[in-house]
Amino acid sequence: MSSITAGNAEQYSDSKKLAARGRLNREYTIAETGWFPWVAQQLPLKPGDAVLDIGCGPGWFWASVASELPEGLNLTLADLSPGMLQEGLERCRALGFAAVSGEQADAAALPFADASFDTVIAMHMLYHVADQAKAIAEMHRVLKPGGHLAVTTNGAGNMRGMYALTAVFGSPPYDPAGAAFGYETAERLMLAEFGNVTMREHPAHMLITEPEDVFLALTSYPPGDRASEEELAAFRAAISEAFQTGGGVLEVGKETGLFVSRKAG
Ligand SMILES: C[S@@+](CC[C@H](N)C(=O)[O-])C[C@H]1O[C@@H](n2cnc3c(N)ncnc32)[C@H](O)[C@@H]1O
Repeated sequence: MSSITAGNAEQYSDSKKLAARGRLNREYTIAETGWFPWVAQQLPLKPGDAVLDIGCGPGWFWASVASELPEGLNLTLADLSPGMLQEGLERCRALGFAAVSGEQADAAALPFADASFDTVIAMHMLYHVADQAKAIAEMHRVLKPGGHLAVTTNGAGNMRGMYALTAVFGSPPYDPAGAAFGYETAERLMLAEFGNVTMREHPAHMLITEPEDVFLALTSYPPGDRASEEELAAFRAAISEAFQTGGGVLEVGKETGLFVSRKAG
C-alpha cells in the first residue's frame, strides 16, 4: 500500500515522522481557537471520569489541554505502537491527572472489560484501522451506559491545494486520511453502532509561509518517504511554483471534524 494509512509500524515507531505533520498544523493553522483546545472544550468530561484515549500517539493532546480539563481524571492511554505509548505515558504522568495507565492495544481488539470508561477518545487514528466498524463496536463495548465516544478525522477535501502537489511521486491529489476515514464514513459507522452522532467542523484554514515545512510533512509517510531523488526534486519544484503563484504563501482550506456519540442507558 502507498499512503498515510499504511506502514504503521515504521511510521509510528516513535513520534519523529508525526512531528513534521504536527508542526505544519501547529505553525500555520489560522483559527480563533487552536485544534486541541477546540476539541477539549467540546468533550463531555466530568471531574473524576475514567477516560480511554485509543491511538493516543505521544500524548500531545493531553499536554496541550491538561490545565483546562475537569479535576481528577483517570486516564488510560492505548496505542498499537509501544514507542508512542511509552512517550505518551511519560508525558501524561507529569501532568497532574488522578491516575495515568497504559496498554499496547489494537483498536479493533481492546483489552478492557465491558463498561469500563465514561469517555473514549479516538483522535485521528481510525483511518489507520482495517476494520473500522469493529473498532467502533469495541469502543462502544468498553463504554459505560451513558458514556460518550469522541472521534476526530479529516474530510476528503482537507488541504486539497497542498495534497495536489504530491502527485509528482504518485500519491492521489487528496488527503489520504480523509479518503480512508472521512466525514461520511465516520458519521455512518458511528450512527450504525450508537444510533446517534453529532458532528462539528473546526473553523480553520492554513497560511503556510515556509516551503520546507510542506516538503517535510508530505515526505513523512509513504510514498513520499521513499521517493527517488528525481521525484523529490520535482516535488520541490512543484512546491516552489505553488508558493510563487500564491505570492510567497500557500493558502489551503482545512476540513477537520469532531464526531460524538452517546451510548444508550
Ligand atoms: C496520527 S496519530 C494520532 C495521535 C493522537 N491521537 C493525536 O491526535 O495527536 C495515529 C496514532 O494511531 C496509532 N494507531 C494506528 N493504528 C492503530 C490501531 N489499530 N490501534 C491502536 N492505535 C493505532 C498510531 O500508532 C499513532 O500513534
